[in-house]
Amino acid sequence: MQIFEDVSKIRAFLKKNTLINKKIGFVPTMGALHAGHLTLIERSVTENDLTICSIYVNPLQFNNVEDLKKYPRTLESDKEKLEKYQNVHLFIPQDTIMYHENPKIHLNFGSLEATMEGTFRPGHFNGVGIVVAKLFNIIQPNRTYFGQKDLQQCLIIRQLIRDLSFDIEMIIHPTVREADGLALSSRNQRLTASQRKEAVAIPQALELSKQLLPSYGNQPELIKKEVEKFLAHKPVRLEYFHIVNTQDLKDVHNIREYEEIALCIAAYVGEVRLLDNIIIQTGDLTENPNDF
Ligand code: PAJ
Repeated sequence: MQIFEDVSKIRAFLKKNTLINKKIGFVPTMGALHAGHLTLIERSVTENDLTICSIYVNPLQFNNVEDLKKYPRTLESDKEKLEKYQNVHLFIPQDTIMYHENPKIHLNFGSLEATMEGTFRPGHFNGVGIVVAKLFNIIQPNRTYFGQKDLQQCLIIRQLIRDLSFDIEMIIHPTVREADGLALSSRNQRLTASQRKEAVAIPQALELSKQLLPSYGNQPELIKKEVEKFLAHKPVRLEYFHIVNTQDLKDVHNIREYEEIALCIAAYVGEVRLLDNIIIQTGDLTENPNDF
């Protein structure tokens, strides 16, 4: 595995490889790599000749200084995890390389960021959009891999690719979960053992709302109330719960009007903010009023 810190060095390396027609896959991350990240990397390894993983904790996307300070940084073990793959190389730029001066442009994704993460983390998607656009320009991959776990981020990046005409195929990979259902996240490392157990209430809340959908699919407010009631008994503080249409992330009032919807949640366990979602094909839902 080659490790690059400089833009010019990784560009030269990639140019050499694209000249001999090698396909480049790119997996951007902020490190503290877990099995969720590694499945994106494995998928890229099988679908491309060469994979670049970037590890960069991007200050521009953190609107909370404490969150940035406490973000787990485990570069040495991240490197070890990547070593075992063939044809995977690492890009680890410093802040001075990525932002030798503060960017003056500002990205606004309109209605795509007028909900959920965009509302609770103002400026977050400007930071995500800028860093991903810069990384796309540096790496110029054929394909890029993102996790469904950050669904709103996926739609933002899809829009970025379209609006700026990046010649990149974007692949969205399903969320990888622990055995009890908790979505893997670098932030899970910050949970105490008891908080870790309690965090399972988040995927459980999604499962509960999924089961309510056949009967109450035209009353999303009622489903939200049930989620609130369920979490009220747990040491988990709900920040938002939305039932959205996966095309534009607008709130859904009657699920039957859409083929595909997503149940999206953000909640705090202690000080740690966790995100999760599930995507549902409404055609697959079976009516069973006896369930509840
Ligand atoms: P990070 O949180 O490190 O995530 C990197 C990629 O891994 C994202 O595409 C994310 O959706 C995916 N991922 C995280 N947990 C996952 C899981 N349990 N299953 C499947 N995929 C998962 O997302 C970011 O970094 C940053 O915003 C970034 C895009 C790198 C820009 O700074």
